[in-house]
Amino acid sequence: MNEPIARLRTLRSVAVRTPRAGDAAEFYREVWGLTEVESDTGVSWLRGTGEEHHILEVRQAAQNALGKIAFSVGSPREVDEAAKRLAGRGIPLVAEPGRLDQAGHGYGLRFADPEGRLIEISCDVEAVTPQDPGGLPAVPRKLAHVVLNTVDIDAAAEFYTGVLGMRVSDWSEHQMVFLRCNRDHHVIAFNSAAWTSVNHMAYEMPSIDHFMRGIGRLRHHGLTPLWGPGRHGPGNNTFSYFADPAGLVCEYTSEVQQVEEDAWLCRVWRRVPELSDLWGTAGPPSKDVRAHMAGVPDPGRWWEC
Ligand SMILES: [Fe+2]
Repeated sequence: MNEPIARLRTLRSVAVRTPRAGDAAEFYREVWGLTEVESDTGVSWLRGTGEEHHILEVRQAAQNALGKIAFSVGSPREVDEAAKRLAGRGIPLVAEPGRLDQAGHGYGLRFADPEGRLIEISCDVEAVTPQDPGGLPAVPRKLAHVVLNTVDIDAAAEFYTGVLGMRVSDWSEHQMVFLRCNRDHHVIAFNSAAWTSVNHMAYEMPSIDHFMRGIGRLRHHGLTPLWGPGRHGPGNNTFSYFADPAGLVCEYTSEVQQVEEDAWLCRVWRRVPELSDLWGTAGPPSKDVRAHMAGVPDPGRWWEC
């Protein structure tokens, strides 16, 4: 049996491509609470208060699309081994193992998933000083999860478990699947949809107090949640969804359920209001938030264009 290509440690970052990169980067910097670590023409790298060099890359492009999703592995040897295992599975590399040409560098490789999304695995990325606020500014610590719209949820789940070694934490009927690579209940989820696109990106606040104060800060900037605040059933995490200037959906979350690997049993959640929103404060998602989460069709494989 084919082994997964690597043991993923964490979700590092997400990259988005958008015609409104400047406005989006300004929003994440000035309103959302991230800090710019580096920028270049048409591209900005932003960090949270945690250990990761950057958790978001925003890059100028012709249309809204996913740039890439980056995961960490433990060592260069694991990156090299992953390259061999990908070759063994007939999955071509987009970038061979080597020094990554981006902010924070690191040693990594890149390849595409079945819907043309770019996946990066890396190690030895440059350190930054943790700035965990310990009760002060209500700013995100890390990227909590990325939800992806997929045209084939079973193929997506198969690839991310079989090839990337992720585990299924829960299903929401046959509509969504929640995948983990560490104790966090999910770092990736797939949502069955009419086309491939980014559904939303979630940023973890250190506590529910930071979460609520973050929502308050956005209110002072004139932004009210598209959906939330509430608490999801699968993952038991708090949620509050907003749209950024590019039209992409971003979420503040906190208190994501921690999984004990050997004891966890996957469940299937019915899609009823009392399970989607345990607090009963958010109500069902509106047409508006659903339209933002659907986004525009992402053809993927942007690096081949
Ligand atoms: Fe979410």
